[in-house]
Amino acid sequence: MQDLPMYSRIWYIHATKFNMIPYLILELILDIIEMKTSLKITLASLALLSATCSFANSEATEAKSTGDAAKGKTKSATCAACHGADGNSGNPLWPKLAGQHSDYIEKQLTDFVEKKRNDATMTAMAAPLSPEDIKDLAAYFSGQATKPGSGNEEKVGLGKDIYKGGNLTTQVTACAACHGPTGMGNPAAKYPRVSGQHAAYITKQLKDFKSGTRANDGSSIMRSIAKRMSEEEIEAVAEYMSGLH
Ligand code: HEC
Ligand code: HEC
Repeated sequence: MQDLPMYSRIWYIHATKFNMIPYLILELILDIIEMKTSLKITLASLALLSATCSFANSEATEAKSTGDAAKGKTKSATCAACHGADGNSGNPLWPKLAGQHSDYIEKQLTDFVEKKRNDATMTAMAAPLSPEDIKDLAAYFSGQATKPGSGNEEKVGLGKDIYKGGNLTTQVTACAACHGPTGMGNPAAKYPRVSGQHAAYITKQLKDFKSGTRANDGSSIMRSIAKRMSEEEIEAVAEYMSGLH
């Protein structure tokens, strides 16, 4: 009784006095529904608030690479076969690097060198790179323009719901909170840009995070999200992200 809102308590006294128990039960059910609805609204506005904060933050603290983009261009000749000369790869399993934040590219290449992230193809490619090469390559690719992609129309609906609002039932966090409302990420926090990325590559990364094959995300940020996602959700959100810009 003490936990009930004031008007319910008054209603309770009123109802018991006039023997209106069935109405009292109805009132309680309505109370519970109202509580759940307001909880949903609170959670949705919190996600939106943090999205706005991280977006504002990314604009204020845009990290600039200290590498030399011209040297990076020369060094990128070996990368071009897979990632494209301008960082827009043709094969959907080879990620686009064009327009990706330089700090994120540096972190990934360093992780491949230190074997914190492993891939049969990419680990071998990163192995000979020095810290200076990594900075130069990151400066070059981050300065290229991303070619926009397009998402599969049948799947983008569910994908958009997850991206913007997450899944409350399975506690999947809204992707927009960190990757930004238009998928531009947050350079200062090393939250990667995902807009325009190939859907097949995104799907593979989410499945790798889910299974733990990819485990270089600090504090298991992405592993804890991906493990709550169904295959259908993963494919849908990947399609939505690839068309996002
Ligand atoms: C033979 C093909 C191939 C070549 C050559 C290659 N890569 Fe990759 N790269 C890949 C693949 C495949 C992946 C994705 C690995 C995975 O699935 O986790 C990748 C991933 C990456 C990533 C991570 C991107 C992200 O969004 O997380 C970076 C950065 C990268 N490569 C940079 C380079 C650079 C710099 C070079 C040249 C020195 C290079 N790659 C050469 C195939 C290649
Ligand atoms: C709390 C912040 C946060 C949220 C929320 C979040 N991410 Fe991420 N995401 C990250 C970080 C950090 C990384 C980079 C991990 C690393 O350093 O390798 C990342 C990496 C990724 C990558 C790999 C990108 C690449 O180029 O390899 C994908 C794909 C991705 N996230 C998808 C999603 C999806 C889909 C959602 C929503 C269901 C989501 N993320 C929600 C922080 C977040």
